Amino acid sequence: MLRTHTCGQLNDKDIGKSVKLCGWVSSRRDHGSLIFIDLRDGYGLTQIVFDPKTDPATHKTGEGLRGEFVVLVEGLVGRRPEGTINEKLATGKIEVRVERVEILNKAATPPFEIADNISVTEEARLKYRYLDLRRSSMQNNLRLRHKVCKLARDYFDERDFVEVETPILTKSTPEGARDYLVPSRVNPGMFYALPQSPQLFKQILMVSSLDRYFQIAKCFRDEDLRADRQPEFTQFDLEMSFVTEEDIYEVSEGLMKKLFKGAIGVDLKTPFPRIKYAEAMARFGCDKPDTRFGLELVEITDIVKSCGFKVFADITSKGGKAIAINAKGCASYSRGQVDELIEFVKTYGAKGLANFKVEKGSLASQIDKFFKPEELNAIKDKLAGQDGDMIFIVADKPKTAYDSMSQLRKLFGKRLDLIDEKKFNFLWVTDFPLFQYDAQEKRWVSEHHPFTSVHPEDTGLLEKGETLDKVRSRSYDLVINGTEIGSGSIRIHQRELQELIFKTIGISDEDAKMRFGFLLDAFRYGAPPHGGVAFGLDRLMTLFLGCESIRDVIAFPKTQKAFCPMTSAPSPVDEKQLNELSLRIKTAQAK
Ligand code: AMO
Ligand code: AMP
Repeated sequence: MLRTHTCGQLNDKDIGKSVKLCGWVSSRRDHGSLIFIDLRDGYGLTQIVFDPKTDPATHKTGEGLRGEFVVLVEGLVGRRPEGTINEKLATGKIEVRVERVEILNKAATPPFEIADNISVTEEARLKYRYLDLRRSSMQNNLRLRHKVCKLARDYFDERDFVEVETPILTKSTPEGARDYLVPSRVNPGMFYALPQSPQLFKQILMVSSLDRYFQIAKCFRDEDLRADRQPEFTQFDLEMSFVTEEDIYEVSEGLMKKLFKGAIGVDLKTPFPRIKYAEAMARFGCDKPDTRFGLELVEITDIVKSCGFKVFADITSKGGKAIAINAKGCASYSRGQVDELIEFVKTYGAKGLANFKVEKGSLASQIDKFFKPEELNAIKDKLAGQDGDMIFIVADKPKTAYDSMSQLRKLFGKRLDLIDEKKFNFLWVTDFPLFQYDAQEKRWVSEHHPFTSVHPEDTGLLEKGETLDKVRSRSYDLVINGTEIGSGSIRIHQRELQELIFKTIGISDEDAKMRFGFLLDAFRYGAPPHGGVAFGLDRLMTLFLGCESIRDVIAFPKTQKAFCPMTSAPSPVDEKQLNELSLRIKTAQAK
């Protein structure tokens, strides 16, 4: 090594030692003839001092050092003078008095300062990611991610899981997003798909008697990106044979316990609470509720279904729901504040938001004249309304009413300061519906994926072709503080049932054979009962680090437009490559 120590290593025990350090010039302060420089590397900062009395030539070189120059210094570790000690810094008690300096490389002036808590556009941070990653917070994020992967690997290893790499150039797996496709040169007109997850391969490994599989798996999904979504992300993916849900919960909870303790020193209580999908919807309006606060939704459909307010009566008589929450102490809201909330719920599809103030023991609103006193009282009582509260109501199709009110619940959770940010609330959500209706495609699709087993009590419904929304599945999600962190299921392992499910969601025999023939074939040769789960590593890291954006926990992420500003990927390719792949680009004019 060119150095004897890193820039984060020296302390008062090293005083008097002759050392060599390598690093980047971080900040500099000139005090008369003395030059103080913070030398930075991936481990920390060390103050180095150039004194003309030590060696004039070295001091001269010191004068020429600029930000981000890469230097090697040799010198003596000394105690910092009284009053200049920095308790916050690991190396804050010492400094290195430079006797020799060598410039290993010069640097252009960086486009932004390399420091934490600076305000730089994300575009610039991603374009100059190598500089952004020099910041200590980003170094910390990368190192913690490494640690979490190591903890997970050790955990799986201790429990006899075998890590198996599955292909990246493969066939489409239906996880509900669009595929990234890769054209094949040797098979013109044919495409590989990048895996949306290793789902089918891990199931095949169970057929191969591997028994316990895991992988730190890259997944690729071409979907609309949000704060917690990336087009390529990483899962802790696992699958086990001869298991029930209880075995998966036990392994998953053990993993979470180990990761939370090892990464951030948090002791988790297990088993985690569980809630059935139907109950989660009724109480929170969503399948990934944040249970750190109450403010639960209250259904008042029965109370308003024959009221005089036509909107409510019409909607609820057609199968809609009226859902309410009580915003404690918000009766003083101005017209403008209420209008803002109306606009807010409209972005989730609601047509309006009725509001009732609780005043002198009864409800007052622009629309109260349409309600009988006993209806108003019933609403107030059901929501435990007290003077000073404001009750908000959306009446709409169940999905819209739940979507908009669960968002309003979250908004009030933050606004009324109901959330304890230090808490980690875990929740298993179980008994999901097996299917959901896709209004755009006008057909039933799998809620999780089509390899999910049917709830044993509901197999009859499936065979009878009953309303498909009543069929429950054997799938489960792990939710932490309102974020879906993991998802999995007990799988179908019989070919006949798998074929029936494909048929139910409109995948023809021919299509099933073409897309999943290999799985159906494998099922002919003795597939064991099996199940598994996958956890989103990037989302877990975001929780551990308290980051706003998933991009802060990924070394080289993509923007919201799935673009990498550093490499400029995706980018055009030349004609020769297209020809080799038998591809032609439709230009904007040619369309
Ligand atoms: P699922 O599609 O629910 O299940 O994904 C599992 C977990 O992966 C994370 N995740 C994402 N993280 C970042 N960006 C994304 N675009 C993204 N999409 C998903 C989430 C999610 O809970 N094969 C099944 C698992 C199984 O059945 O075993 C699967 O992939 O944290
Ligand atoms: P309107 O009759 O459209 O002026 O609405 C009267 C009040 O009822 C307004 O406060 C609307 O926001 C509210 N409102 C309208 N439609 C709905 C709905 N579907 N659910 C809840 N409130 C609504």
